[in-house]
Amino acid sequence: MSEELLHQVTLNGAGPVHIAVIMDGNGRWARGRALPRPLGHQAGMRAVREAVEGALAAGVEVLTLFAFSQENWQRPADEIGALMALLEEYIAREMADLKQQGVTVRFLGDLERLPQAQRAAVERLMAHTEGGTRLALNICISYGARAELTRAARLLAEEVRAGRMAASDIDEEQVARRLYTSAFPDPDLLIRTSGELRLSNFLLWQLAYAEIYVTPVLWPDFQRQHLWEAILEYQRRDRRFGKVTA
Ligand code: FPP
Repeated sequence: MSEELLHQVTLNGAGPVHIAVIMDGNGRWARGRALPRPLGHQAGMRAVREAVEGALAAGVEVLTLFAFSQENWQRPADEIGALMALLEEYIAREMADLKQQGVTVRFLGDLERLPQAQRAAVERLMAHTEGGTRLALNICISYGARAELTRAARLLAEEVRAGRMAASDIDEEQVARRLYTSAFPDPDLLIRTSGELRLSNFLLWQLAYAEIYVTPVLWPDFQRQHLWEAILEYQRRDRRFGKVTA
């Protein structure tokens, strides 16, 4: 059944180049099993592998995952500690396979807030997977879209003050070039799991014309066929970018 979905995706052609995902519902998954929340995140880590392998199989070029927001720093210390430990575990466990599969990993966000060990681990994974050509995997960590836009404004202001550009040179392209995602096209498709209908301060600039797909599936239950179902739904949509259909 799931291979049929992939076959249909391939037959349809013109799938999304860039998919962004808000991975939500780890806590509810754990609560539903009377487990501590960190075990929900651990199960969520396995689903990350499903998403990556599903994206590779479907020919997606860029996959951007929201793993930890700036607001998540306000969670209880033990949950933050568990998430940081999982990040290191993910890197240790997946590094060789990601490299072998041709995945280039980048971490987007305020990485300076990460503890030293995690900072070193993310730098290691980025360096190790550099140059992979099949999939760009962006993992947003300590990320907030408003902070990202504020940072871009500050960078532009500094360049104007230094005389390297005029205020009148600032246009949408100049802003986009100072976002963490500057190397990538905007997401075509945003997937949010667990049924919530919010953007949660994720890629507010980049998602301007993304198609939105919300599934009730909790993130730890997310499997590659769920990704393919989302792509099939995307392929049925009529994207107009504010214009009329030709
Ligand atoms: C949202 O669920 C999920 C997170 C805050 C963390 C996402 C982390 C992972 C998927 C695992 C680690 C991933 C990597 C790449 C190392 P929630 O806790 O807000 O769930 P709830 O809304 O049900 O409480």
